[in-house]
Amino acid sequence: MLSREDNELMTCIGPGTPAGALLRRYWQPIAAATELTDEKPIMTLRILGEDLVLYKGTDGSYGLVAEQCAHRFASLSYGRVEGNCIRCPYHGWKYDAEGHCVEMPAEPNVTAFADKVVQTAYPVRHLGGMLFAYMGPAPAPALPKWDVLAWRHGRRWIRKFAVLNCNWLQCMENSVDPSHLYWLHGSSAHLAKVMDHYDEQHDFITFDYGIMKRRTTAAAKPGGRPMIDQHPLLFPNILRHVATAKGSRARRHNLQCRIPVDDTHTQIYIVNFQPDSAVVTAPDAEVPMEHFNFRDDTGRFRMDQVPAQDAMAWETQGAVMDRTRERLGAADRGIVTYRRLLKQQIELVQAGGTPLGVVAAEAEKPIIELEVINERIGLERPEKVRGAA
Ligand code: FES
Ligand SMILES: [Fe+2]
Repeated sequence: MLSREDNELMTCIGPGTPAGALLRRYWQPIAAATELTDEKPIMTLRILGEDLVLYKGTDGSYGLVAEQCAHRFASLSYGRVEGNCIRCPYHGWKYDAEGHCVEMPAEPNVTAFADKVVQTAYPVRHLGGMLFAYMGPAPAPALPKWDVLAWRHGRRWIRKFAVLNCNWLQCMENSVDPSHLYWLHGSSAHLAKVMDHYDEQHDFITFDYGIMKRRTTAAAKPGGRPMIDQHPLLFPNILRHVATAKGSRARRHNLQCRIPVDDTHTQIYIVNFQPDSAVVTAPDAEVPMEHFNFRDDTGRFRMDQVPAQDAMAWETQGAVMDRTRERLGAADRGIVTYRRLLKQQIELVQAGGTPLGVVAAEAEKPIIELEVINERIGLERPEKVRGAA
């Protein structure tokens, strides 16, 4: 149970909020690179409660600026791109990707005036088929090269989900809530086939990039050794997971990114990577994207699909779950661990500190391999994928 104040502290993410300030210290995945094309180089986005326009310049660079023009607030989403700039459709003011106004066609004294105009703008980077934005104070930190984004030998693709009508924290609490697996995913999760009763132990270990969640379950066969399933919550809003593809033994590593749109909506992208020594996908390559709807034609959640099962649980908790009335039990220890870490990191940022996992750009690692284990699908230790970047 949380106090009303703490619930607000952890869920409100707009500009000027404490949790918003924390989330803005991390590069946020905002779109798949393939969502912008030469024919459609501009898209609108709402991220962390801010209305923004993402564009791909005619020179191939990316820009992310406030949607409303600084002059008289027309939407830049109807503008046009020129080089690395975007030009407003109303009076033609032109902005570069850093938010400088570089042209004011109807103004006689541009030099004096343009310096006074600031269009909010954020840096954008491309990695593993996703575009990442940094919306925090300068300087931007290192963009973490998670293994799923940076591995080369295999196939990578992205799945974009329908926007969830709930707060981001509900999705993240689920990532440290392993006891839901039997019940919510009982008909489709691999464990349901081999387990006839609930028997598992959970550990939540805080490490350099978040919380490592370890589930130890009974042996697959009598007399066998207990099985470990371990994967991390990458603080603050990503889950790194691995599973087998349906009807196959091929492993799919994935990065589940839960991006707060605003306080009551969340956009999820999952980046998948299936190792395959015969295929090369460069970390800077654009990759295919598919869409996924949580609901069927009648508006009900598609309860035969794992992502829709989770979405059902998250949305039905309420737009922003009222945690003052919940009843946490012993099995909810992971949720308590995550909330403690979240509150501590919010306070750390308020006090001027650098939050967990954020490192200076100069300290950027070529790749971050995560200790993912899933013995039930034969992944006994981190998979060595040859030729990693
Ligand atoms: S509103 Fe954009 S140039 Fe006038
Ligand atoms: Fe789940």
